[in-house]
Amino acid sequence: MKSFGHFDDVRKEYVIQSPQTPYPWINYLGTQAFFSLISNTAGGYSFYKDARLRRITRYRYNNVPIDMGGRYFYISDNGTVWNPGWSPVKTALDFYECRHGMGYTVITGKKNDLKAEATFFVPQNYDGEVQQLVLTNEGSAAKSFKLFSFAEWCLWDAQDDCTNFQRNFSTGRVEVEGSTIYHKTEYRDRRDHFAFYTVNDTIDGYDTDRDAFIGLYNGFGDPQAVANGKASNSFADGWSPIASHYKEITLKPGESKTLVFILGYVEMPADKKFEADGVTINKEKAHAMIEKYNTPEKVAAGLAELKAAWDKLLGIFNVNTSDDKVNRMVNIWNQYQCMVTFNLSRSASYFESGIGRGMGFRDSNQDILGFVHQIPDRARERLIDLASTQLEDGGCYHQYQPLTKKGNSDIGGDFSDDPLWMILSVGAYIKESGDWGILDQLVPYDNDESKAKPMLHHLDVSFYHIVNNLGPHGLPLAMRADWNDCLNLSCYSDKPGESFQTYTNPKFAAEGGYSKVAESVMVAALFTYAGPTYVGILKHLGKDAEAAKAQAEIDKMKENVMKSAFDGEWFLRAYDSTGAKVGSKECEEGKIFIEPQGFAVMSEIGKDQGADIKTLDSIDKYLNTKYGLVLNNPAFSKYYIQYGEISTYPGGYKENAGIFTHNNAWIICAEAYAGRGDKAFEYYSKIAPAFNEDISDLHKTEPYVYGQMIAGKDASRFGEGKNSWLTGTAAWNFVAISQYILGISADFDGLKVDPSIPKAWDGFTATRKFRGATYNITVKNPDHVSKGIKSLTVDGKAVEGNVVPVFSVGGDHEVIAVLG
Ligand code: BGC
Ligand code: NOJ
Repeated sequence: MKSFGHFDDVRKEYVIQSPQTPYPWINYLGTQAFFSLISNTAGGYSFYKDARLRRITRYRYNNVPIDMGGRYFYISDNGTVWNPGWSPVKTALDFYECRHGMGYTVITGKKNDLKAEATFFVPQNYDGEVQQLVLTNEGSAAKSFKLFSFAEWCLWDAQDDCTNFQRNFSTGRVEVEGSTIYHKTEYRDRRDHFAFYTVNDTIDGYDTDRDAFIGLYNGFGDPQAVANGKASNSFADGWSPIASHYKEITLKPGESKTLVFILGYVEMPADKKFEADGVTINKEKAHAMIEKYNTPEKVAAGLAELKAAWDKLLGIFNVNTSDDKVNRMVNIWNQYQCMVTFNLSRSASYFESGIGRGMGFRDSNQDILGFVHQIPDRARERLIDLASTQLEDGGCYHQYQPLTKKGNSDIGGDFSDDPLWMILSVGAYIKESGDWGILDQLVPYDNDESKAKPMLHHLDVSFYHIVNNLGPHGLPLAMRADWNDCLNLSCYSDKPGESFQTYTNPKFAAEGGYSKVAESVMVAALFTYAGPTYVGILKHLGKDAEAAKAQAEIDKMKENVMKSAFDGEWFLRAYDSTGAKVGSKECEEGKIFIEPQGFAVMSEIGKDQGADIKTLDSIDKYLNTKYGLVLNNPAFSKYYIQYGEISTYPGGYKENAGIFTHNNAWIICAEAYAGRGDKAFEYYSKIAPAFNEDISDLHKTEPYVYGQMIAGKDASRFGEGKNSWLTGTAAWNFVAISQYILGISADFDGLKVDPSIPKAWDGFTATRKFRGATYNITVKNPDHVSKGIKSLTVDGKAVEGNVVPVFSVGGDHEVIAVLG
C-alpha cells in the first residue's frame, strides 16, 4: 500500500512526505488558552479558549477543495508561485516534508533551489502562534523573490461569522502600525480584545482587505496581489479583513534569511483599551508580546522550552515493550492525544466545527481518565468546572461552553449515563494525586454559588440519580440517550430536522420528557463498574454505613441484570419504551451490542454462572472483524423508529455497526481483566493507529491518532477511518493499554501492578512517576502466562498482593513483578 510518511520516535514526530495525504493530517498547537489546528499543508485556524465564541482566524468546513484557508506563505520567484506546504497554489515542489511534533509543526518546501522551512508553535504561557520562516538560497546564483504572508480574520463568534453576513460585511475593522496588522472588529464598542499579525522585519507593503489581496473572482490558489507581484496597501473597511505582509527578498548563494511572524491575541482592561485619542488601540501589551519572540534566538528558546515541557509530561509514564508500535503509542502519541481531548473535548477538529459542541459532560469526564496523570491540578480544575454544571438532583447539563463555563441549555440534560462518569473521573483524580481534599471543596449546582455543596455531595447525587430513576425491571431508565447518543428510546421522531437527542416525543411529554419504561442495560453495567469507586471513597472516609448502603444498591443492580438482562450468551442492550428487548437473540437485527458487555464482565455480573466468558466469546464470534469490533450486529438495514437515530445510519457507519473505537477499549479492558491477554492485545492492535499505518490509504485519517470510528464490515468502505482526534477513544485506549494490558494503575493507596499481556511476551519495563516518587518497574514473564503476579518486590523487599505503596519521601524505587 502507498506510504505517506513515517514515525520519527526519537524526535517524537510524524513525518509526512507527501502533501496529498488521504485526508488532511493535522496537528494541534497550544495546550493552555490559545489553540491552533494546523494541517500538513498549513491549513486550519486559531482560537482563544473557545472555538465558537472566540475564533481568531476563519476556516470554512466542508470546503471544495477540502482544507482551504490557513496561514499561508506565498513565494513568487521569477514567475513561479509556490507555497512551502504545496497548497493552496499546488505548484509541484522539488521537496516537501511536514513534521508534526508535540505542540509544533515544521513544514518544509523547496522549489528551484529556494528552501522555505516554516516552524509553527504556540509557546508556553503565550497567547499567540509563532511562525518562523527560514528561507535559504541553495543555488549557485543570487535569487530575488517576493514573499507574501496571509491570515484571514474571523469576526470572533464563529457561528455568527458564518451566518450573519448582512451585519458582518459592514463591521470589520483593522489598524496597521509598521509591520503589524491589528484586527479590531467590535473593539470600539463591546469587545475588550483584539488580534494582530506581525513580522520582525520591515515590509514593502501589506494588504488587509481580502478582496484586494485575493480578488473577488480568485481563490486562495491564485491571489491577485501575488499575481500582480505586489501588495496594494489595502485597508479593510467592512467586508472581510485579512492580514498579509509583503516583502521583497534577495539572497546570495548559500544565504539564509529568517523571519518571525506572530499571530497574537490580546485582552485589555476596559479602561486601558485606547490611547489618549480614544480611538487608537492601546498596543502596550501587544508590543510586549511581540518583543517576547521577535528574534530567532528567542524562538529557539521558546521551542526548546515547549519540547522540554513535553519531555517532562511524557516522562511521567513510559514503557519499553518488545513492540515498537506499542511503545510509540503509549509513550508519545496516545498521551499526546489525551492532552488534546482533555483541552478541547469534542469542540474543534476537522470533523467538529467548533460551533457545534463545547465541552461534553460525559466526554470530558472520560477524557480525564487518560489525562489525569499528566497534570492532576488541571484535571482538578476541570472536575470543578464540570461538577458546577451539575443539577441538584444529580442530573447534568450535557455540555457547556469553555469560555462561559455555563451549561448549554439548547441541549439540556437527561442523558442517563452522564453522572456516572464523574464518579470515575473524581476517583481517578484522587487515586492519582492522593488529594482527598477535593471532596470537601464547595462546588455549585447549576453554576449557582448559593447552591454550592461539597464535591462528595456531587458524587452522592450522581450515584443516587441512577438509583432513583429505575424502570420496571429495576434497571436504569434510558432517558434521552445513554453513552450511545443514537439509541434514543424516548426521543424518536419521524420528522426531518428534529434533534433525536432533544426532541420531546409527545407520548412522553407528560412523564417528564422520556419514557418511564425504556431501560438501559449499559447504564446498569456502568453503574456496577463505577459504583465500587464511590464505595471505596466512602470507606476511606470512614462512612461505613453509607458505603454498605451503596454496595447494597450495586449488588441489587447486579441481581436485576442477571434476572432480566442476561440473554444467555451476552447481555441485553436495553428495553425499549414498549418493554421489548433491544440487543437480544430474539431481535431480527441488532441482536448483540457492544456497550454493556465490557462493564458487565468487569463487574463480574453472573461470573459464577460463566456469564463473563460466554459474553466475551460472543463478542469475538459476532462483533470481531479484521479492523476491530463493530458496535452491534447484525447492522440495522431498515428504520426502527422506536430506537431513534441509530438506524438512520447506513449499516457499518457510526453507531449502526461502525467500529466505534471508544468502546472497543471497554472490551480490551474486559479481556485483560478476565486474564485473556492475547485477545486483549489482538483487539488493541487492530485499532491502535500506529498498527494501521501500512493501510493509510484505506484508513485515511492520521496514523498517529485515534478516530472515533472505522467503517464496519457492513459498509462498502470497510476499514476507512473518520472523525479523528476528538474522541473518548484516546483516553479509554490509554487506560486499556496502560492500566489493563500493561497493568499499571494508580490506586487509592498505592500503585497497582497487574499486567495482562500476550503470553509470548517475556515481560517489559516501565517508568511511572507517582505522588512524587519514581517507580522503575520490571515485569518478568518466565512462564509465559498472561496474568497473575507470582511475586512482587520493591527495592528488594517482598510485597503482598499487587499494590506497591506510596513513598512520601519520593526518590527512585525498583519494582520487580514476576508473572506466573
Ligand atoms: C450523532 C452521533 C454522534 C453524536 C455526538 C449524534 O447526533 O449523529 O453519531 O456520535 O451526535 O453527540
Ligand atoms: C460521540 C459523543 O461525543 C459521545 O459522547 C458519545 O458517547 C458517542 N458519540 C456515542 O454516541
